[in-house]
Amino acid sequence: MLLGVTGGIAAYKSAELVRRLRDAGAQVRVVMTAGATKFVTPLTFQAVSGHRVYGPDIFISESDDGMDHIHLARWADAVVVAPASANFIARLSMGMADDLLASICLATTATVAAAPAMNKEMWSAAATMDNVAKLRARGVHIVGPDAGDQACGEQGLGRMREVNRLVEDIARLFGADGALAGKRVLITAGPTREPIDPVRFISNRSSGKMGVAMAIAAAAEGADVTVVSGPLRVTVPPYIANVAVETAEQMWQAVAERLGETDIFIAAAAVADFRADSVATDKVAKADLGGALKLVPTTDILAAVCKAKPRPFVIGFAAETRDIESRGKEKLDRKGADVMIANPVGQAGTGFDADDNQATMLWHGGRKEFPRARKDELAKQLMSVISERYHAAKNSA
Ligand code: CTP
Repeated sequence: MLLGVTGGIAAYKSAELVRRLRDAGAQVRVVMTAGATKFVTPLTFQAVSGHRVYGPDIFISESDDGMDHIHLARWADAVVVAPASANFIARLSMGMADDLLASICLATTATVAAAPAMNKEMWSAAATMDNVAKLRARGVHIVGPDAGDQACGEQGLGRMREVNRLVEDIARLFGADGALAGKRVLITAGPTREPIDPVRFISNRSSGKMGVAMAIAAAAEGADVTVVSGPLRVTVPPYIANVAVETAEQMWQAVAERLGETDIFIAAAAVADFRADSVATDKVAKADLGGALKLVPTTDILAAVCKAKPRPFVIGFAAETRDIESRGKEKLDRKGADVMIANPVGQAGTGFDADDNQATMLWHGGRKEFPRARKDELAKQLMSVISERYHAAKNSA
């Protein structure tokens, strides 16, 4: 995503916006206008984006052919200008190419969105309204502005859209024509915790990274996503609904309540297989623990969803330490899922609690290998094939 920052007090909020967009799985490159650099230094954006920052001068180019504006315009899947000043909106509406950001906006075929931020009189001025109407008619998405206190001491319409809401809007905008637009995806993620007494519980090493990465990838394909999660060690972006639970039973309840409105169910949680038969109200003394602890199986949520009527399209994960593919295939059949994603765990660097993963996707009559990659990258590749399988199943039904 290419983020254009123009001159306005709200420019300081855009550093946080870069962070949130990266959390949501975007790669972000920042281009600043001359005005923007009066409010925030390029170094701030370099640090938060992890990339060099481009300034206003179109004639200073990093690339050998001197055409940064064309390379960046082609590189971007989306261009977001936030904050968009009155001056930049005017330049954009006139199709000016007098600095790098304006030239990129003119040269790109990607979707362009702008989040205006200015004094309320400047926003409501006839000239600005005309410019905004022209941009809208050309397909530029205008996000905001919001009403509220302004830096100039006034109250009214002109504040830049609040960062969390902006991320939500951007995610929706750019997923609107995705392969899963309008579909509802329900994902379980993270471990569950099964209490033994007020201080002890049974759990596992799952961090929830893979489940949340799948949720972000599904949202990027345009889906309306809900994550039902046990205690996570990663954050769920604000545009994804999150139902926090603790035990397998609570997870099952939360899933069961939403099944009627789910198109695709993805079981990425590492659900504890057993729970204590009864939970002690007082701490059990160490000496009594061995005798007192009777374990009973938890509900197999994946298998239960596969038996539900009506039943969504169902994807399971099979985390294995050996015979990965044959065990994955066995689980596909035994649980009755449509797709099973078998992945190795117990090796350094991949699987549980790691940043990387690799997988073999299995379905009836097919398979596909996914080599080791970062979980967010792998999740995108997996979601794209899941979406293909889902549409193939719908078409053959
Ligand atoms: N799963 C679930 N509910 C459970 C246990 C597992 O929904 N109580 C789901 C997981 O989210 C995963 C899939 O089932 O998508 C496979 O989990 P796994 O633990 O590998 O399966 P088990 O049935 O527990 O098999 P194993 O005999 O290997 O423990």
